[in-house]
Amino acid sequence: MIALGIETSCDETSVAVVKDARKILSNEVASSIKFHKQYGGVIPEIASRMQLETISEVAASALREAGIKLNNIDLISVTCGPGLLGSLLVGISFAKALSLSLGIPLLGVNHVHSHFYANFLQGKIISLPFVALVVSGGHTSLFYVRDFDKIEVLGETYDDACGEAFDKVAKILGLGYPGGPLIERLALRGDPKSIKFNCSGTKNVLDFSFSGIKTAVLYHIRKLEASRCGDMDKQIRNICASFQYTVVETLAKKAILACKMKKVKSLLLGGGVVANKALRERLASISVKEGLGCHLPSLGICMDNAAMVAGFASQLFKKGYRSNLYLNTDLN
Ligand code: KG4
Ligand code: ZN
Repeated sequence: MIALGIETSCDETSVAVVKDARKILSNEVASSIKFHKQYGGVIPEIASRMQLETISEVAASALREAGIKLNNIDLISVTCGPGLLGSLLVGISFAKALSLSLGIPLLGVNHVHSHFYANFLQGKIISLPFVALVVSGGHTSLFYVRDFDKIEVLGETYDDACGEAFDKVAKILGLGYPGGPLIERLALRGDPKSIKFNCSGTKNVLDFSFSGIKTAVLYHIRKLEASRCGDMDKQIRNICASFQYTVVETLAKKAILACKMKKVKSLLLGGGVVANKALRERLASISVKEGLGCHLPSLGICMDNAAMVAGFASQLFKKGYRSNLYLNTDLN
């Protein structure tokens, strides 16, 4: 079975071809990030305009790379949410047009669920049920997955998503956008124990809250700027290392607790923040200690991409799920 995947939920325009829900034949990603950098965040209007301009070309390139003709496609799959409204509509409209004109079934899928599915595209056998932690720029969610259509939310963020907190802290520190990789780089040369930050407590122990730690960084840097003492570059490296350490420990603690509560043996990670080496290493090592199998998507499929969409949609398609031409965005 050959599925075409389309992903336009944020700044990326991605089209992929996936065989039998597991094998990536192509996964083309065009990013408009350089046009957003000067604004310190993604500007929805710019993102959707770029997607409109590039989607046909990206799709043609994905088909060419896969060596597949459109009439060999069995399923057109697309992210229908959550994400930016205008961006999602570009992908959905393109998918509908292909589906209608070629008479190929259409299926819209959830972007956040697709993120943990990326682990199934790496040739490994992963048995159900499992716990999944998705940490991206828009979401921080813990799921209990009994099957691909039986997904229970165990915890979510009350406020900022984890990647959003990285981006906002980087902005506060004047580092640029996107913040995650910039903070990670500086954290390498900082002391993670130098400043005691905390992530706020949550009523449900598996929920998350990152806006408090972001504000704590803001107050810390203001105090340093007012006192004008010490090596400012070193202080910023220490803030990055301490912030990252606290966030990683919080994610690791809650993910392991969720696995214990649900008595599962596997933990799957997904989302852009999983590109963070400190997070990958900590989750891998704590999982070994706790006797859990930890699955991490390779760096190329952590961030937004259409292969995860095509793979996940293929699994739902096999179960009989279909969308029709009334398919709309689902922003929740
Ligand atoms: O999954 P993704 O590509 O898009 C969303 O669905 O949001 O994630 C993007 C997020 C951004 O907030 C970015 O700062 C963060 O992932 N990110 C990182 C790293 N690389 C990307 N966060 C921490 N460390 C990184 N190395
Ligand atoms: Zn994403």
